[in-house]
Amino acid sequence: MNRRREILKEMGLAPIWVLREPRIAPARAAAAPEAGPPSRAERIARMGWDELKAAVKDCRDCGLRAGCTQTVFGVGDERAEWLLVGEAPGAEEDRLGEPFVGQAGKLLDNMLAAIGLRRGENVYIANVVKCRPPGNRNPAPEEVAACSPYLLRQVALVRPKLIVAMGRFAVQTLLGTDASIASLRGRLFRYGGVPLVVTYHPAYLLRNLPDKAKAWADLVFARRTMATLARG
Ligand code: URA
Repeated sequence: MNRRREILKEMGLAPIWVLREPRIAPARAAAAPEAGPPSRAERIARMGWDELKAAVKDCRDCGLRAGCTQTVFGVGDERAEWLLVGEAPGAEEDRLGEPFVGQAGKLLDNMLAAIGLRRGENVYIANVVKCRPPGNRNPAPEEVAACSPYLLRQVALVRPKLIVAMGRFAVQTLLGTDASIASLRGRLFRYGGVPLVVTYHPAYLLRNLPDKAKAWADLVFARRTMATLARG
């Protein structure tokens, strides 16, 4: 057992759970010479920040862009150790072009503050879907499929030490499972080698106040895990 695993075990954080088959496989870094032109996902998987931002801005690959004001790319420190992943922009985010600036965002900022973090300082926040679904409906599977390569590239570019997946769309996209948040909380997963903690989505917490305590426990778990990673 390597040193980090030993420490995690001592802290009661082991085992590290890895789901084998993410639904959206990360695109291969390089295509074989005999392969045809790179797929859309492969092209996105090679983009740098500027190209990626421009690609999201210009994207029309699902129907959502036609009904929203602007794309909402992501915000924060592009070399952050913490990456938080939500679902999709709501009305305020659509208006301001930044993730989590409405009611759910206020709760998220408070939760971050409670564990000593601030938006933009060693924290990057992104959504699975970059355009607001009309009327705040859930994003459809084809919308998630069209947009998730952008998120996967953001993860690869930020190279965080820890990912906090908030809610079922982040979990489905990064871990490829439909399991409930309740059943996934409190365990350490990995996405592409990066430790990942699951918690409730802040908008869900606004509707289910008693579960706030559980989300708090999840963030404490995440912070403890990060402390271990920083030492290891
Ligand atoms: N909910 C999300 O998942 N993301 C936002 O940016 C706002 C609300």
